[in-house]
Amino acid sequence: MTIDGDGFRAALGCFATGITVVTARSRGRPVGLTVNSFNSVSLDPPLVLFSLGRHTHVYWDLLEAPHFAVNVLAQDQRPLSERFAAPPASGRFKGVAWRDGPFGSPLIGGTAARLECTVAHKYQGGDHVILVGRVLHLEAEPHRRPLLYHQSAYAALAPEPLAPEPPVPEPLVAGLGRRAVS
Ligand SMILES: Cc1cc2nc3c(=O)[nH]c(=O)nc-3n(C[C@H](O)[C@H](O)[C@H](O)COP(=O)(O)O)c2cc1C
Repeated sequence: MTIDGDGFRAALGCFATGITVVTARSRGRPVGLTVNSFNSVSLDPPLVLFSLGRHTHVYWDLLEAPHFAVNVLAQDQRPLSERFAAPPASGRFKGVAWRDGPFGSPLIGGTAARLECTVAHKYQGGDHVILVGRVLHLEAEPHRRPLLYHQSAYAALAPEPLAPEPPVPEPLVAGLGRRAVS
């Protein structure tokens, strides 16, 4: 059976995902791109993965970086998703609130979670490379609702009409670096 590109894309679009911006430092510069292929791999050791397109401008930057960060976008951060998927000449980090993570990868403010990783494995995956990262540092703000993606469109979690608003907890910070997020 031949799999045609449009059908493949339509089938994959049935799977709803969150949206992340994966960042790294390359020759001292912050680099990043919008990624929805992020997924968890293992709890012990703590591993995550994402697929990096071979034809992206940031391919070599990310492939050669020893660390990367996964910034999980919150519901109000659609402009960041669009900016980090647009040509890099537009200045992806211009005006964005970010700071260095403990291992030098840019951590973006206002995100629902930030995970900084060391690159543990790289696998060939057709026109992508699969990067597996071991999580060294994490920050989570679970009260921030996530930005979602489904059928090539942005989406949001439907509010639960009868559920009371949960109290806003303190941000969770874990790992080797313990700075609170701004
Ligand atoms: C919602 C969304 C999800 C994306 N997910 C991925 C992904 O998982 N891996 C990837 O390599 N590119 C992904 N892209 C595409 C890149 O963000 C975009 O092509 C890239 O930023 C262009 O990069 P370049 O200018 O560095 O070539 C996604 C784009 C969007 C809008």
